[in-house]
This record gives sequence, structure tokens and C-alpha cells, in this order.
Amino acid sequence: MSLLERIAALEAELRAATAGTADEVERFRIAFLGRNGSVTALFDAFKQVSAEEKRALGQRLNQLKQAAQARWEELRQGATAGPATADHALDPTRPAALDPAGTLHPITLVRGRIVDIFARIGFTVSEGPEVEDDRHNFGALNFPPDHPARDMQDTFFMEVPGGTPAEGALALRTHTSSVQVRVMEGRRPPIRTVSPGRVYRNEAISARAHCMFHQVEGLYVDRDVSFAELKGTLDHFAKAMFGPEVVIRMRPSYFPFTEPSAEVDMSCTICGGGGCNVCKHSGWVEIMGCGMVDPAVLANCGIDPDLYSGFAFGMGVERIAQLHYRVPDLRLYWENDVRFLEQFNAEAFRS
Ligand code: DAH
Repeated sequence: MSLLERIAALEAELRAATAGTADEVERFRIAFLGRNGSVTALFDAFKQVSAEEKRALGQRLNQLKQAAQARWEELRQGATAGPATADHALDPTRPAALDPAGTLHPITLVRGRIVDIFARIGFTVSEGPEVEDDRHNFGALNFPPDHPARDMQDTFFMEVPGGTPAEGALALRTHTSSVQVRVMEGRRPPIRTVSPGRVYRNEAISARAHCMFHQVEGLYVDRDVSFAELKGTLDHFAKAMFGPEVVIRMRPSYFPFTEPSAEVDMSCTICGGGGCNVCKHSGWVEIMGCGMVDPAVLANCGIDPDLYSGFAFGMGVERIAQLHYRVPDLRLYWENDVRFLEQFNAEAFRS
């Protein structure tokens, strides 16, 4: 018999094989896949054939091995979940075969991790609505009507039945900074809170942008809160999230609700700062915006800026997740492809 025929015969044989008990399944494994098993023997015979034959044969042989492994797996499942056979009477004390369970979504895992890091240093968690009014999303945060800063965020406005936009415009919130306003309106300092949630922007969907994504906003208001504390807090976050070797830097920036404002970069976790295509060969990746809460924002929310100061920051959860999991395309998160989703599990985040 040629090697090809032997492969075909063996394939038929293992497909027809049955096993009712765990012992029989183990005998199947030894007979086909064990060190002296028949599939293993064909791999030995393969070493003798000529170089031209090797290519086609190698492929068939690998298929055979995969078929043997798949059949073994099938028999194993059958032996645990299948009905009791004569020599394997029903044993009600055996643990049940577990149903396959889903896993948490990677964005849920990363959001939980971010919140956890801040919770451990005294931040509470607060949330606000996704459909937001103009005051909370823009006005109280120092974006006057018609101010060009509103163009920084392309907004989905919603029609208010019977109302003119000017009277009561509602929008899908463009950032979780809106929750800052809600928290400050309702509480007195000291305030230390993080606000995770969904945000929406009118962006074309691509590998790098989406019309819906997640942010975590942070807010700390008390007497004498300093920029040094902001920097220390964010440095702690970056190290807790990505490892002790990570460093951050701040670049001056502009946000209407903070003064001074900064953009925070972190040393690239992928290349360690040496330069790669994720950090565009700069060694740094941008992870969030931050700054000292503008006194006008404190005043808008009923907090006396002569007594209190604060810092705030806002980060994109998908961005943090991308650096953590190295997923190159944002769209993958929202396509609900089980093959993608089942690769993430909470174990990686146990701390
Ligand atoms: N809201 C900003 C955005 O969505 C992010 C941000 C920047 C939040 C600076 C802040 C901050 O609290 O201080 O782009």
C-alpha cells in the first residue's frame, strides 16, 4: 500500500472508531496518536519519501493528524456528556459537564480595570445620562454658544419635539466630562470621582475612529489641589495599568474646561520607546487629556473657586485597550465576532 492509501485507510478507520468510556477514549488516543500509534508511525514513514513527494504528502498527513485529534476530542466530549454505558453506570456524584460560558467584552474588562485602579486610591464611581442637554455637555464646561471649540467634537444633536434647538437642545454626549458637571452640581468638595461611559461623535467609521466609544473621566476637587498631584496620579495610573517601567510626559494643550490643559503621552508599551508603527516611530503614545479645572467651571457648578481647586482628566477606553491588547482595528470591538471576543478573559486582569 502506498503512503497515500495508508493515510486514506487510517482516516476511514479513525472516523469509524467509537468509545463509550474514558478508558476507551484513552485507548483510541494511544492507538492513533500515542508514541507508537498508527498516525505517528506514518510520520516516521514520511521521513523516507523523496523530496518531491513530501509536499503533497505532508499536507495530507497533517490533515490526518488534525482529523485524529478532532475525533479524539469528539469522543472525549461524548464520553463525559453521553449516556452511561453498561460498564459506566450512572454516577450522580460526578461533576456535570460545564456548558460553554461567554466571556466579558474586552472593553468591559479594561473599563473595570481602569476604574479599579482609581477606586483603590479613593475615587468613587459616578455616571450620567448618554442623552445630555447643552448645559452639561457644553455650556457649564465653558463652551459658549457658537464658540469654535464646539467644533472639536462633531455632535449628534437630537430633535426635541415641539421645541427649538436653542431652547432645549439635546445631544448624545460627546464626552463624559458632562458627568463632572452633574457631580459638582450635586455635591460639595472634597470630590474624587471617575465616570466611565459611552460617548458619541459624528465620525466616519474606520480602523482608527468610531461614532460610539467609551471614556473614563476623572475629577478631583478640594482645597489646594495642585498640578503636581495631577501628574502623580496619572503617573500612578499608567504604571498600574501598563507596568512599572512606563513613564509619562505632558504636553501643553487646550480644552475649554481646564486651565492649564495638557495632553498626556506614555512611553510606547509596544516598542518600549525605541520606535514602532504604533507610536509612529516617536516612542510615545497619547493616552488622555487633562488639566486644572477652570475656575469658571467650578463657579458654573456652584463651587467657590476662591476656596477650591481641582484637576480633571479624560481617557478613551478603546485607546487603552488597544495598547493593552494590541488590537490594530477599532471596528473589531463592535462586530460581535465570537472568534475575536472569546480571546479575552478576566484572568489577565486579576491583581
Ligand atoms: N473631554 C475631553 C475629550 O473628550 C477629554 C478631556 C480632556 C477630559 C481634558 C478632561 C480634561 O477632563 O481635563 O476630548
